[in-house]
Amino acid sequence: MNKFEQLESKKKEAVLGGGEKRIADQHKKGKLTARERIHFFLDEGSFEEIGMFVQHRCKDFDMADQQYLGDGVITGYGTVNGRLVYVFSQDFTIFGGSLSETHAEKICKIMDLAMQNGAPVIGLNDSGGARIQEGVVSLGGYADIFHRNTMASGVIPQLSAIMGPCAGGAVYSPAITDFILMVEQTSYMFVTGPNVVKTVTHEDVSSEDLGGAHTHASKSGVTHFACSNELECIDHIKRLLSYMPQNCEEQTPRVSYSSSNEKRAVLDTIIPENANQPYDMREVIEQLVDEASFLEVHKDWAENIVVGFARIAGRSIGIIANQPAVLAGVLDINSSRKGARFVRFCDCFNIPLLTLVDVPGFLPGTDQEWHGIISNGAKLLYALSEATVPKVTVITRKAYGGAYDVMNSKHIGADMNYAWPMAEIAVMGAKGASEIIFKNEIKQSSDPEAKLKEKTDEYTEKFANPYLAAARGFIDEVIQPSETREKLIRAYKMLENKVSNLPRKKHGNIPL
Ligand code: HXC
Repeated sequence: MNKFEQLESKKKEAVLGGGEKRIADQHKKGKLTARERIHFFLDEGSFEEIGMFVQHRCKDFDMADQQYLGDGVITGYGTVNGRLVYVFSQDFTIFGGSLSETHAEKICKIMDLAMQNGAPVIGLNDSGGARIQEGVVSLGGYADIFHRNTMASGVIPQLSAIMGPCAGGAVYSPAITDFILMVEQTSYMFVTGPNVVKTVTHEDVSSEDLGGAHTHASKSGVTHFACSNELECIDHIKRLLSYMPQNCEEQTPRVSYSSSNEKRAVLDTIIPENANQPYDMREVIEQLVDEASFLEVHKDWAENIVVGFARIAGRSIGIIANQPAVLAGVLDINSSRKGARFVRFCDCFNIPLLTLVDVPGFLPGTDQEWHGIISNGAKLLYALSEATVPKVTVITRKAYGGAYDVMNSKHIGADMNYAWPMAEIAVMGAKGASEIIFKNEIKQSSDPEAKLKEKTDEYTEKFANPYLAAARGFIDEVIQPSETREKLIRAYKMLENKVSNLPRKKHGNIPL
């Protein structure tokens, strides 16, 4: 074999990973191989591999005789829709994709390159965790990755797709990254698996129930997307990237947009006459943003708030919106956490924010208080206050109490605040308010019910409107719903070159 042939033969060996049988086993489980995933993810022919011939250095447990080129992870760079990305893809066919010292070094190498060159890192995770034969060096390898994830946070977007097992401390690298995507039925994430759970808490639970995609998409909120298969997951990553800049120094990408009639007549009838009747805020969003541009994040978790990316006149925005169709759009612990995390991502990466408000307040009760609605609600307040990107608010209906302040009010730094004519901006709902402040008058009345109605109507007339707030300048303009899209297009254009700096500090202390 000459030297050229030797190189080609080594490459062939590397491409085979853990061998034909293990590749077939992977396919039998309904999973793609690490290389197939990269193939579907990157633009055709754009992948440049780094470290194809890396081998582990472990000598214990006969490991010296078990060598596979690449050591269970494929790393490199390429393009997605013409834009540079760095990628690592764990190869389950080699020691179950487990993380050795050298496997970690390969990941760290592309993370360092990504930081230096300002491009996203995407991890395609499929791994049995720390390489058991290596012990502490593999734990060290994980920590090297965790540290880089933390340093890269807010500098470059980091996305984690979970496409197989992800257990133990291995879940903490994805947890630090910006977005997690899981695949239904073939992926799971947990700190300790069902066996340990059984021993410690005597609970019987399957891997899927404990940490499958559905669980983390609806119960814990750990994953932002649950995808029905790997190809859908890969498509989602590409779509997500399309809204993001390459790094924190760049503006968001624009797609071409030609202006048309921006009036949306349907918005004038979207809010029910009865202020207590629900409607789906997603329908409002669809009317406001460019056609089919809304990508909802955390769709099945904390559904009383809707968050996601969209485009307005071709430019990315991040939306946070109360959802009157679920729990009347009330703010609670999870919706505050969901909103806060999303706002901080957008602010890191110069993505302007749109806040749509229809909120009756914070959810009362022992469950919420005992689990810390105070400190959790404060997360959303803090995140929106701190965000320096262009911030626009539209109050569609209710904006009551503290939730009015929290939902990107003028007072916490929103740039443009609009309200629709049916907006009710007040300390609380008219009936509740009347019951408190006219308590004696109602009690002493010969017809308390009629008195309450009279007082409620009086309060509604006086306070349940947007004009007191507009008179103070807390609302910049009361607008017809149908003209909102046009107003937003102009407002974001006006705010395009916004400069707003935070006071000099090491970092703030968000109530985590
Ligand atoms: C070395 C491993 C491995 C590991 C799997 N393999 N996990 N090798 N270290 N952690 C190997 C298996 O020996 C097997 O090799 C091949 O990968 C496929 O594994 P199977 O068990 O046959 O596959 P499957 O039935 O699909 O089960 C997958 C699995 C299981 C659920 C991931 O392998 C498993 O439970 N592995 C151990 C998980 C674990 O406890 N990891 C450590 C977590 S602690 P062959 O040669 O037969 O193909 C941790 C700490 C991190 O990660 C701390 C960071 C702070």
